[in-house]
Amino acid sequence: MRTELSFSTASQIEAELLAVPAVDTQTAKSPDARPQPELLTSDAALKKAAAAVLSSGEFKAGPNETLLLHAPAGLKAKRLLIVGLGKQAKANVHSVRSAAGTAVRFIKPRGIRELVFALPESDLLPPGPCARAAVEGAFVADFDPDTYRSDRKDLSVQSFTVAASAGADKKDIDAAFREGVVIGESQNFTRSLVNEPGNKLTPTEFGRRAAAMAKEVGLQCEVHSTEKIKELKMGAFWSVSQGSEEPPALIVLRYEPKGVNDGPVLGLVGKGITFDTGGISIKPADNMEKMKYDMAGGAAMMGAMRAIALLKPNVRVISIVCASENMPDGKAQKPGDVQTAMSLSADKPGKTIEIINTDAEGRLVLADGLTYARQLGATHLINAATLTGAIAVALGTHNAGAFSNDDETYDRFNVALETSGEKFWRMPLGDEYSDQIKSDIADIKNTGGRYGGACTAAEFLHAFSEDTPWIHLDIAGMAWIEDSKPFIAKGPSGVGVRSILEWVRSYSS
Ligand code: BES
Ligand code: MN
Ligand code: ZN
Repeated sequence: MRTELSFSTASQIEAELLAVPAVDTQTAKSPDARPQPELLTSDAALKKAAAAVLSSGEFKAGPNETLLLHAPAGLKAKRLLIVGLGKQAKANVHSVRSAAGTAVRFIKPRGIRELVFALPESDLLPPGPCARAAVEGAFVADFDPDTYRSDRKDLSVQSFTVAASAGADKKDIDAAFREGVVIGESQNFTRSLVNEPGNKLTPTEFGRRAAAMAKEVGLQCEVHSTEKIKELKMGAFWSVSQGSEEPPALIVLRYEPKGVNDGPVLGLVGKGITFDTGGISIKPADNMEKMKYDMAGGAAMMGAMRAIALLKPNVRVISIVCASENMPDGKAQKPGDVQTAMSLSADKPGKTIEIINTDAEGRLVLADGLTYARQLGATHLINAATLTGAIAVALGTHNAGAFSNDDETYDRFNVALETSGEKFWRMPLGDEYSDQIKSDIADIKNTGGRYGGACTAAEFLHAFSEDTPWIHLDIAGMAWIEDSKPFIAKGPSGVGVRSILEWVRSYSS
């Protein structure tokens, strides 16, 4: 998708389609108060072209509602698409992201390949952040998951132009716009990884794709396998990989900006289970095919690293993805087995883990991933994982779970959410939960019973992040979208990329 930023008057731009956002300005709450849709533009020709249909009552400017006009009088564009942002008081930058996405997904099936999106003109909707959000929304909306269809028609949008009003601060908007391109493309990079089936994206292939991306954007990259995992005595990681014919991959990416030799080192750790059968504690057949997306946390870290390399914050970042299959095999680990996790330093033996359920494998690979990140010097940790079904039971598919052992670190993440527009809900840690995972035979066991499953999983990871400031993101309920929305296809969501990126940028000096 080609992208462009224009400061021409929207009504004067020649295009296949011009999309313009509208809000409902009705403030009365009485049941017979009719919606009062209004375009967010100062362009008189545009207002005139939309006047009749806006007063007809046919269009309410609800969130992502659309209305198409052909050959609009007084406009150079061939079509005018009005896109709702909802009630004026509730419309924000995130509504603009969705509206731009809605416009893209509106034109795709209709064979229209280019559009101009007019930024809203409103004091409450700053043009820079709106330009960025609109581009992000356009890239995200352009993605479709049908990559292996032999009759696939390429309906991708060829050209997306953001039209900002001439009076606006051009430099600021241009910078924000270009950030939006990087972020939208990075989120889609993550989604394309998550979309791959388990037979295509093996741990080895995951490593190759990470290395290719790293080369492209200028990140240091190492991809290790069995030998290094054994050498590092990553007994928790290896316990998952030992039951698979496919070798595991330990992916390490480093971002080291020139001249930054002190300050924090951020450790981004991702669960990269390329297929989760459950192992010997095998999963039921229903929906098992979904478990190809069990590497979405790792893929989110790869997307965030891509964006970091291109946006160049002034902070050192290291990312570790523990990629493995979880398979039942003659060599697979068994319930009751005891494994020894990697030790942080020579004076500290690795923690012993009693395996209760081999399907609780994400926390095992992450345990060693977190320890390795700390050993490599990470001062602050964030991990992302499709860790538990329990998080979806708790929060549904509308919020992902977030856990943290440090309020200051978490507060930065919370601020990042305002920019990213992603929804995470902080969940509790606590001794009551860690008591649930005490083992009779070893230091810790890998499941904690039926209740509080997302919290006991988080406490398991906490045993390995220990007192290093750390955030755990459980994205199991959010990484795959079951039903398409006006602004995004069903399939991989790319959740986490934008928020992790903003959290990292908050440390940039
Ligand atoms: N990958 C799953 C979690 C998952 C479930 C992700 C649904 C996406 C959608 C994870 O490895 C798992 O199997 N967790 C178990 C833990 C249990 C055995 C304690 C679960 O949630 O049932
Ligand atoms: Mn599992
Ligand atoms: Zn899993």
